[in-house]
Amino acid sequence: MVLAHRSSSALKSIAVALIATVMVLTAGGQSATTKPTTSATTQSTEQNWWKNAVIYEVYPRSFQDSNGDGIGDLNGITAKLDYLKELGVDAIWLTPVYPSPQVDFGYDISDYRNIDPQYGTLADFDRLIAEANKRHIRVLMDMVMNHTSDKHAWFLQSRSSRNNPYRDWYVWHDGKGETATSKGEPPNHWQSLFGHSAWQWDEKTRQYYYHKFYIQQPDLNWNNPTVHKAFQDIVAFWLKRGVSGFRFDAITTLFEDPTLADEGVVRDQNGNVVINAYGDPQLDNSKTDNLPGVHQVMQQMRATVDQFSNDKFPGTRVLIGETYLHNVQELLTMYGPQDKPEFQLPMDTQVGFINKLDVSAFRSKLNDAETKLDSHVPLLVFDNHDNPRLDIRYGDGIHDDDIQRVISTMLFASRGAALFYYGDDIGMKTTPPKRKEDVKDPIGITGWPREKGRDGERTPMQWDASQNVGFTTGTPWLPVPPIARQNNVATEGSNPNSLFAWYQNLIRLKKTVPAFEHGSNVMLDTQNNKVLSWARQSQGAPQVFISVNFTAEPQTVNLAASNSLTVSNSASVEARKLKTLLKSPGGADPQSLSEIKLGPYGVYIGELR
Ligand code: GLC
Repeated sequence: MVLAHRSSSALKSIAVALIATVMVLTAGGQSATTKPTTSATTQSTEQNWWKNAVIYEVYPRSFQDSNGDGIGDLNGITAKLDYLKELGVDAIWLTPVYPSPQVDFGYDISDYRNIDPQYGTLADFDRLIAEANKRHIRVLMDMVMNHTSDKHAWFLQSRSSRNNPYRDWYVWHDGKGETATSKGEPPNHWQSLFGHSAWQWDEKTRQYYYHKFYIQQPDLNWNNPTVHKAFQDIVAFWLKRGVSGFRFDAITTLFEDPTLADEGVVRDQNGNVVINAYGDPQLDNSKTDNLPGVHQVMQQMRATVDQFSNDKFPGTRVLIGETYLHNVQELLTMYGPQDKPEFQLPMDTQVGFINKLDVSAFRSKLNDAETKLDSHVPLLVFDNHDNPRLDIRYGDGIHDDDIQRVISTMLFASRGAALFYYGDDIGMKTTPPKRKEDVKDPIGITGWPREKGRDGERTPMQWDASQNVGFTTGTPWLPVPPIARQNNVATEGSNPNSLFAWYQNLIRLKKTVPAFEHGSNVMLDTQNNKVLSWARQSQGAPQVFISVNFTAEPQTVNLAASNSLTVSNSASVEARKLKTLLKSPGGADPQSLSEIKLGPYGVYIGELR
């Protein structure tokens, strides 16, 4: 994770890091034209399923509790697969469910080949895969290779003596100026992304170990080939159980500069050193992030994974990367060279974490994803378990649901795969703790009050309006936000104007409208700084036009004059009719491309006939 994306206020300064035959017309005007489908993957072959995929991030701890202990679990997820099927998702990504001391809620793994008893058993996992497969939903796991838990057997061995065979599995260094009686200073000034020095003194063997994240998350030494082999075996273990791929956690932080050179300090416009939420000078991460070694690791990993498309679990296995990068050029490198591919889907965080409703910024970044990734498939993502939800980063507190329609339209109506976070589908809102003593995420404890941690975006999934929102019969591990009485699956499922209905309609369009499946994105009306408009076009398929109003005032756009239209010439375009595929509640049906009227934060999607 990159803390720069966490908050629009406190951490802003941190510089790191689915053919139309059925017309569903609803009372309030939200409409969708769709064809009936038999499965969420009808249009995708087993080989190409990921190229137009809809992937849903499940935070298992907070999704559904099946045994009343207040913590979500695998059987809870299995019980909710029908909901996910109804929503239309192709795959779910589970954040870590391996045994873990839960210091970083699963990202500190103590055994890579089992399930934490809090979440269930391997038999529960196998049942989840089997039930998901029956519904054409694939399961993706999280793979944490940068570090383990300090309770992992490898680390316990490693720290037991300097001569232990596992010593070199982690990053150990002498301190500066160390003597027989003093530990000296840490080897350099590198910092943990979770605050303070990245070096932890180990008294028994009198050396420091490196941790990019918590002290309890020692970094593995990726210069050791045995470590590579260990992870190839772990990945094979889960592929054999039927997982359809992995999301590689913190992948850019695998390597550190062997010279241990200090990192640069980030300064503001006035030349002053930026101080982060933990009170430390903000470093540029130039010696500990995105070093070249990661490419070779991922090339080997891809080669291993590509061998696993077998009859029992058919279909391409997909590698997703947690790739917070500086620009689209860096993102391009993560797909790897043609003959040595790396990720199929490195996350494009350039688009989704703009963090303000700026039309030209979105136009430019979406256009980069279309034109600067060598025709690779972009993976758009706007939020996750590490960042405040959409309301905080894009909402205005008044039009939050409409603004979420704007955001979700960019996510699902653009070319590529779409990744979204549990609860977006019902408009869950960020609910940070109000008191330090209530904080569960340790970075909220270290960083309070500037950094309140990530509890706010991890509250229980809101299934109904009951006291514990249908999440648990026990006491939920994080409190249920008051908004849950209004925004929940039971209430929204029966409301055709709800966000849930909006997400369901967008996903159905993504999976059924031919231009949405593989059509390119062409930006239109490119001088407009209030409305973002684009066309999806693919030879032989009707063009689809999308306009989203980024303002609280009504807007009207004329797309007929746009000189970016390449498939049809603009003269014939003007004479032809638009058929509404989807529009915001209360929105108008335009007669032609010359006059599309949008309400405040209104969205219009129409097909040219
Ligand atoms: C990733 C995860 C985050 C975790 C960190 C350390 O950024 O998304 O939740 O804390 O890695 O594993």
